[in-house]
Amino acid sequence: MIAQRKDDHVRLAVEQQQQHDGRNQFDEVSFVHHALAGLDRTDVSLTTAFGGISWQVPLYINAMTGGSERTGAINRDLAVAAHETGVPIASGSMSAYFKDPDCADTFSVLRKENPDGFVIANVNATTSVDNALRAVDLIQADALQIHVNTVQETVMPEGDRSFSSWVPQIERIAAGAGVPVIVKEVGFGLSRETVRLLAGLGVRVADLGGRGGTDFARIENGRRELADYAYLTGWGQSTAACLLDAQDAPIPVLASGGVRQPLDVARALALGASGVGVSGTFLRTLLDGGVAALIAQISTWLDQLAALLTVLGARTPAALRHSDLLIHGELRDFCADRGID
Ligand code: FNR
Repeated sequence: MIAQRKDDHVRLAVEQQQQHDGRNQFDEVSFVHHALAGLDRTDVSLTTAFGGISWQVPLYINAMTGGSERTGAINRDLAVAAHETGVPIASGSMSAYFKDPDCADTFSVLRKENPDGFVIANVNATTSVDNALRAVDLIQADALQIHVNTVQETVMPEGDRSFSSWVPQIERIAAGAGVPVIVKEVGFGLSRETVRLLAGLGVRVADLGGRGGTDFARIENGRRELADYAYLTGWGQSTAACLLDAQDAPIPVLASGGVRQPLDVARALALGASGVGVSGTFLRTLLDGGVAALIAQISTWLDQLAALLTVLGARTPAALRHSDLLIHGELRDFCADRGID
């Protein structure tokens, strides 16, 4: 059952990538061009540090998969790409491992193929502290993601319908995990109120996980006999909106959801992200072109990101936050409605 779901998610996510019109709210963020702001490329470093975590690059492969034979092979390729390019990588939800320890290899391959990389375990918000520790231990994780996905669970035929235990359980996991805990949405976005709540629970970092890329309401509708929650497609805040909403967040934020190109990475960093996660775009490249294509894509993105920082006069990703930005369209309306200057 779980293995089938994991295979369905991959298939439907890639179909969605192929059908997407390519636009999202990152298009409503642009940099004011300053013709003499440029630096020397050798002055630019991509390193980022946040919440006690340090990365060589501000880009990571975000949570996707594991739990079936096919998704184990995908995890192996993702891990090889992470190892070759030096980007951090997150596992897909490890619930399948708690239910069926025989699928452990489909997750532990993330560490096997990437022995020195930064690897993040992933669990849901009902996971016991013991199981969270097992997940971290299996892949020798450097951090733990807890995904929060009430909309996905609701549309998922076999999903959870009770969510009130999540807040106290996140607090327990954050206290007991032994590694930094990152709470992430799966594409509907974290509001500033939610980020503030998470900070109070001992969560170290929030991955805003906004709308604009993979849409799990659409994916789960595709797994129902009738797509009877079709109206939930497009639910939530875009990643750019979440970043603007979280300007004064008490904990560092990561950005993911709808990142299509290096310019989106630069936009997200300029809007305050400490790092930027990509799932659907990289999955599509891997399945279309194989691991060599994914390695080439990530290498190009890192190279072009450094080039963009050079043009924009930012020595580091954090320095991009001083960029002059223009906010257009509906994103501008969002800012007005939420009282954001
Ligand atoms: C995901 N995502 C996800 N997230 C999570 O926390 N645990 C998981 O198990 C999964 N599984 C999963 C499978 C597949 C096939 C995809 C494409 C994605 C969600 C992912 O981490 C991310 O939040 C969203 O996909 C939005 O980012 P993109 O795809 O727009 O870059």
